[in-house]
Amino acid sequence: MTSSLHVVHYLSLLVLLHHGLSVPQPEQVHISLTGDLSQMQVTWLTMEPVSGQPYVKYGRLEDDLKYKNPGVKDSFTDNGPQRKVRYVYTAQMTNLKPDTYYYYSVGSANGAFSKVFKFKTFPQGEFPIKICIYGDLGIQNGQFNDIIHGKEQGYYDMIIHVGDLAYDLFTENGDYGDEFFRIMEPVTSTIPYMVIPGNHEQDVNLDFLHYRKRLVMPGKGSALHGLYYSFNLGLFHFAGLNSESYALSRTDETIDQFQWLKQDLDKTTAPWIFTAIHRPMYCSNSRPWYDPSNDCNGSDNIAIRVGDGNMPGLEQLYMEKGVDIAFYGHMHSYERMWPVYNKVAYKQQDRDRTYNAPTPIHVVTGSAGCHTPHTRQDKNEKWSAVRSDDYGVTVVHLYNATHAHLRQFSTEQHADVDQYWLIKDEGYRPGRQP
Ligand SMILES: *[C@@H]1O[C@H](CO)[C@@H](O)[C@H](O)[C@H]1NC(C)=O
Ligand SMILES: *[C@@H]1O[C@H](CO)[C@@H](O)[C@H](O)[C@H]1NC(C)=O
Ligand SMILES: [Fe+2]
Repeated sequence: MTSSLHVVHYLSLLVLLHHGLSVPQPEQVHISLTGDLSQMQVTWLTMEPVSGQPYVKYGRLEDDLKYKNPGVKDSFTDNGPQRKVRYVYTAQMTNLKPDTYYYYSVGSANGAFSKVFKFKTFPQGEFPIKICIYGDLGIQNGQFNDIIHGKEQGYYDMIIHVGDLAYDLFTENGDYGDEFFRIMEPVTSTIPYMVIPGNHEQDVNLDFLHYRKRLVMPGKGSALHGLYYSFNLGLFHFAGLNSESYALSRTDETIDQFQWLKQDLDKTTAPWIFTAIHRPMYCSNSRPWYDPSNDCNGSDNIAIRVGDGNMPGLEQLYMEKGVDIAFYGHMHSYERMWPVYNKVAYKQQDRDRTYNAPTPIHVVTGSAGCHTPHTRQDKNEKWSAVRSDDYGVTVVHLYNATHAHLRQFSTEQHADVDQYWLIKDEGYRPGRQP
């Protein structure tokens, strides 16, 4: 009895000493859009608890972070054998002026503060923007160096990650997730990092634990948990969706998402509409080691395209609402389709330029690098326009309301393997004419 009490006291003394001696450092800093361009969301982690109010300090001068907003503290326990607890902090920088550099640092009243990071707010109104978009970026084979280099070179202003992070965020008691956000910090601390869930975010209890806790996407506070959301940014409207409600046959969630998307797309007046969902409707991949059929002929892909039982599919809605480009990951390769609807391809004169596209353009961009490299694309579907098995990322450059340019950068060749112009008349929406 006595000795066990001693053990308890000794342990708590050790814990106290440990905390007293090593101040937990804020780490894995990443910023994201809230939907309000006068705000920027910042999220960070500590591996040990910190008492005291978390803060973001920010300002327009590096040596004068004169604004200070309180943040919110949260923690979660990973389901791995070590049951590791992580402490997550979120705060918003507010009243930001457009087109302006801001410096910021995050930390807690009784703890350490991070180094000072810098980002630039977006301009007001419609402005040209470059978006890096990819899926399926793993600790193993992830093309991190090129993604970081591209950010440093100013090749893009933000990132959209269309699901499958780290492989997986919870692997090795969640250490993979920490490693992933540490590697990405030079990028994600300085340009907005927007994410949608993929199958690898389902987590061991199918509750998207690490995704929900580590990432703050618009609508996180609501019942949607940031699993699907939208935002407007200058020339474009982006709607990010959760494919896993289809894959897990969660009918009610899928119906809710569909109804939400319908209303969301009805409201938007942005010149360009982009959507993303992890699992593709169209692709030319196959899994010859166990299934000779087309990968996009799977029940998940079919459900997402045309529905399954009471779960409504998305292709018709995309068409009716005039989605310009629909992005996907999941297949570990790059593929751009000809205009296609209901499995009918509308081949154009020019492979690398479409004017007033009759349908949404479907793009699979899942080649950012992961443990199962180079998914074979050997089906050569008739809607397939351009394919690349190289590791790489997609960069969309919106020039104005009529001209969008898309390129696929191969990180293996250090060259573009697709260059594509999507051009339209002002106000044109695909799918509105036969
Ligand atoms: C797609 O799957 C169906 C059965 O679900 C099968 O009959 C058909 O041949 C498949 N098509 C391709 C192209 O694999
Ligand atoms: C839109 O951008 C394209 C590509 O830079 C350019 O050729 C075109 O003139 C621009 N249109 C307008 C209205 O500025
Ligand atoms: Fe996936």
